[in-house]
Amino acid sequence: MEATKRADHAVSNTATAAEHDFMVVSNRLPVDRCTAEESGCEDGWRRSPGGLVTALAPMMTKTDGAWVGWHGAPDETVEPFSHGGIDLVPVQLSTQDIELFYEGFSNATLWPLYHDVIAPPEFHRTWWDAYRRVNRRFADAVAHHAAPGATVWVQDYQLQLVPKMLRDARPDLRIGFFNHIPFPPPEIFAQLPWRQAIIDGLLGADLVGFQRSSDAGNFMRSARRFLGASVKQQQVHVKGGDGATTHIARAQAFPISIDVQQISELARRPEIIERARQIRRDLGNPKTILLGVDRLDYTKGIRHRLKAYEELLADGKVTVEDAALIQVASPSRERVEQYRLLREEVEGTVGHINGTYDTMQNTAVRYLHHSYPVEEMVALYLAADVMLVTALRDGMNLVAKEYVTARTNNDGALVLSEFAGAADQLKQALLMNPHDIDGLKDTIMKAVNMQPAEAARRMRAMRKQILDHDVDRWSSEFLTALNEKVIRDDT
Ligand code: G6P
Repeated sequence: MEATKRADHAVSNTATAAEHDFMVVSNRLPVDRCTAEESGCEDGWRRSPGGLVTALAPMMTKTDGAWVGWHGAPDETVEPFSHGGIDLVPVQLSTQDIELFYEGFSNATLWPLYHDVIAPPEFHRTWWDAYRRVNRRFADAVAHHAAPGATVWVQDYQLQLVPKMLRDARPDLRIGFFNHIPFPPPEIFAQLPWRQAIIDGLLGADLVGFQRSSDAGNFMRSARRFLGASVKQQQVHVKGGDGATTHIARAQAFPISIDVQQISELARRPEIIERARQIRRDLGNPKTILLGVDRLDYTKGIRHRLKAYEELLADGKVTVEDAALIQVASPSRERVEQYRLLREEVEGTVGHINGTYDTMQNTAVRYLHHSYPVEEMVALYLAADVMLVTALRDGMNLVAKEYVTARTNNDGALVLSEFAGAADQLKQALLMNPHDIDGLKDTIMKAVNMQPAEAARRMRAMRKQILDHDVDRWSSEFLTALNEKVIRDDT
């Protein structure tokens, strides 16, 4: 019977389907295209940086797993292949899918809506149609490749309809979903014309994971309000067409983390420590290096950070001789209008600050619109006395966790927005509200002037938290919870 079901949902680009007991599904596959001379490049592909793939790779090999996702090239069909011991199942996206599903519904509707409408979300029916169509394609690929009773873990906001589509096609599967970004309160979520379908899509999962407990609470309040679901202890008894309970969907917080071992190991390498010293020398040996590292995204509060810094320069609280701000802004979603506007604004502001305060020897803000390999990032973390994470809204913010992990000497100060998920775990950071520019300025000065004993006390506590909660623990806690039997109390 299972075989028949799978045949119904066969995808056309593969002749025979391999059966996998564990499947991860995300918009992007965990590999990028590369050329032979780049390090780590194997057969034209390289593993993408990031903790998620490191955390899941052992599980993938142990359980005959596979990863389903887009391979990054528009209009190109790539057959399933293996890389670094992981079976990969590419899903094709056309140029039009990228425009309507990825840039449109995912990143110009859902992204701003889920991040406190910092930018206005746009609602277009053609984008929604593409979102449904592409989610269906992902669900079909999984349904085709999953072994009977397999565990499937769907990742992030681009694929919220997949759990329900999969449940309908393959009721034998155990389905988990994790939302890497915030889930908005129902008062904001209410704006979405397709709010019921999204909640319904997510409730197809047995377990819906979020970064913060407030996100899980927001989701369940929306399930109650927009679907009339009866929620008890963060659980919903989901009913099928005949009114009978098909499964119980649970919502719970699982704060994601980083590959602690990788960052700690890099932070102890002599050549990386030397590179950090060189960065400081290159900047003219300032007393304080401040650092911001973000995708160039309007949720990150880069403008607020620059405004506060500019005012500190104007007030004479910091000078270009004593302090240097490095802002790494990695290019992101450059075809989406709001990202283009942000880039213009940030670059205009940096130009204005530097034009006003630079001297022949010193630059106020080193602005780097690049992505760097993790080795260089760790050198930057080691060089930075003060790390600025001023997000206006952020699911977690892994940069904050990487900085703390890299500070193996227990020195340095982390300025952290209370609107980043990381604030729930890093309570000894200098927490602040980035909208309050005076408060942000005071907090930056507190970080700049912090005594070593206080810095060490805070850093030690934060390091302990992260060292005890790395990304392996995150994935194993989620998967354990997913496979727990839930007691049904309605029978
Ligand atoms: C966030 C999202 C991810 C996404 C990443 C990069 O972290 O949660 O799902 O992959 O940003 O964005 P991009 O649009 O380049 O995939």
